[in-house]
Amino acid sequence: MAEIILTGDRPTGKLHLGHYVGSLKQRVVLQDSGDFDKIFIMIADAQALTDNADNPEKIRTNILEVALDYLSVGIDPDRSNILIQSQIPALAELSFYYMNLVTVARLQRNPTVKSEVEMRGFSSNLPVGFFAYPISQAADITAFKATVVPTGEDQEPMIEQTREIVRKFNQTYGEVLVEPRILLSDNKVCKRLPGTDGKAKMSKSLGNGIYISDDPETVKKKVMSMYTDPDHIQVSDPGKVEGNTVFTYLDAFSVPDDFGEFLPEYSCLDDLKDHYKKGGLGDVKIKKFLINVLERELSPIRKRRSEFEKDIAGVYDILKAGTAAANKVADSTLAEAKEAMKINYFDDSALIRSQEEMYNN
Ligand code: TRP
Repeated sequence: MAEIILTGDRPTGKLHLGHYVGSLKQRVVLQDSGDFDKIFIMIADAQALTDNADNPEKIRTNILEVALDYLSVGIDPDRSNILIQSQIPALAELSFYYMNLVTVARLQRNPTVKSEVEMRGFSSNLPVGFFAYPISQAADITAFKATVVPTGEDQEPMIEQTREIVRKFNQTYGEVLVEPRILLSDNKVCKRLPGTDGKAKMSKSLGNGIYISDDPETVKKKVMSMYTDPDHIQVSDPGKVEGNTVFTYLDAFSVPDDFGEFLPEYSCLDDLKDHYKKGGLGDVKIKKFLINVLERELSPIRKRRSEFEKDIAGVYDILKAGTAAANKVADSTLAEAKEAMKINYFDDSALIRSQEEMYNN
């Protein structure tokens, strides 16, 4: 069976390093592996609108930002289809029919929706569209018959719910849809990169994110102000490595070669950590090292980005072509689904013939 990837992001802001290590980097590896027959990467603007209905301008401007982020990290439009969710009408149609296969109680149990609803303080103002977005996400995935969804662990409940919808649909109407599996990043630190303040997650509202598109000065400033160990006051003090954001980032980003290149007096990360724990290693030194490590990672990304920035119309052409190719696939799945659901009246000559006979013979 063909291996097909679908994944995506809500265009509510620029993508940050959490997105990068948690998902984007892995996508590029998967793309470059050649193990997949098709790859679809979705800019999920319709989903973003489910809790931003009053702010379409924000979603509109961030489509380009997310597209530039994708292209700059190495997503290659020749090998991966980048598409815009709202421009794929079949998704809305599929969602409409999937709604009949999901109960309100089941949606209420979705832990990701539950915590998002809480975070946004919706209570009785919860938009139906937001509440039901797992159903539309199931449409995103199944329209492309995706077998693999590489994404963060917070998306696990969505994939589970998609699998349930697929089973229910296939049981009810016949085998049309494909059950996807989730593919998590195998690196533990990468699953949830904290913000520069050491808080659980990077977020725009907390102002604790480092963005893929940040310039070197900004990255430097953000790293220099990073949360470390508050009890590590003097250089000679022993320091804590757990919960120390600089070390968490080093866990996520540093590679063995970085030591030879930027910090030859240490042989490896454990060596550096041991010294920090013992005392005698200052925060400035580890921060400068982290800046070098991040720059090693980010400078080729920035270079690629600046090329794409020179031709914004070209970026939109990429999105348009990716969306057109995606529409072909989604339309064909929709046609199959409608046939299975017996709502293909005009395409079903057998139906017309048999009723013709019934009435006229
Ligand atoms: N819900 C995802 C997020 O918040 C975005 C998304 C939309 C998605 N459709 C998808 C992810 C389909 C994977 C597959 O990041």
